[in-house]
Amino acid sequence: MRINKYLAGCGVAGRRACDKIIEEGRVKINGKVCKLGDEVKENSDAVFVDGQRVSMKSKHQYYLMNKPKGCVCTVKDDKGRKTVMDFLPAGVGRVYPVGRLDYDTEGMLILTDDGDLAFRLTHPKNEIPKTYLVRIEGTVGETELNKLRGGVELDGKTTGKSNVRIVETDKKFTKLHVTITEGKNRQVRRMFESIGKNVDFLKRIKIGDMGLGSLERGKVRKLTAEEVFYLTNI
Ligand code: URA
Repeated sequence: MRINKYLAGCGVAGRRACDKIIEEGRVKINGKVCKLGDEVKENSDAVFVDGQRVSMKSKHQYYLMNKPKGCVCTVKDDKGRKTVMDFLPAGVGRVYPVGRLDYDTEGMLILTDDGDLAFRLTHPKNEIPKTYLVRIEGTVGETELNKLRGGVELDGKTTGKSNVRIVETDKKFTKLHVTITEGKNRQVRRMFESIGKNVDFLKRIKIGDMGLGSLERGKVRKLTAEEVFYLTNI
C-alpha cells in the first residue's frame, strides 16, 4: 500500500496532509526516511511519524461521551448511583473513563482501555488544556477574573495559570470559557468559590483543540483514528 494511503488509514491526517508530512521528512519506514510514493507492507513494516509508531490496527477501544449531569465517572459506584458506564452501548469491552467530571458536571469524556493515553491526558506534568463552559450567578469583574487567571490557592497550593474569558453576560448570569491544564478535585467550581462565585452550570467543551461536535447529551460514539492520533500527540 502507498505510504500516504497507509498514513491516512492510521488516522494521521487526510491523504493530502499526509503527502505534506512525508515531504517534510517526518515519516520513517523501518528506520529510513521515506518519500512520496513509497510502498508499505501493512503486516511487517514499522512506520513512524515524528518518532511515534503508527499502525492501522489498534488493539484498544476509544469512545467519546457527552456526559450528562447526574452520573458519576467511575466504573461502579458504591452508593448505587448511575455511572457513565450505564450510557455505553451493549458489547463495549472493558473501557474506563479518562479523568473525572463531577456528578453535576457534563460534557466531554473519553473512555478507553488504553492506559498510556489515559495517563498522558491526565498527568498534570503534560499540561493538556481542558476547556469548560462555566455559568455563574450574577456578574463578575475583571479584577476577580485576573485572580483566577494568575492562580488561586486550593488545598494550600496555587493553581496554575488559566485562560478565562466572558462569553455572555446579563444581570442574572455570566457565561465564561475557562481553560485549565490541571485536574484538581472540583477545580473549576472551587476556583470560582475562591472569588465568592457559585457555578451553577459546568460543561467540559474541549480537550486540547478537540470538541464534542454535534454529539448529543448522554450519547457515545467511537473516536476516529484521526482523533486518537491527535489525542496521543497533543
Ligand atoms: N472542575 C470542576 O469543578 N468539576 C469538574 O467536573 C471538572 C473540572
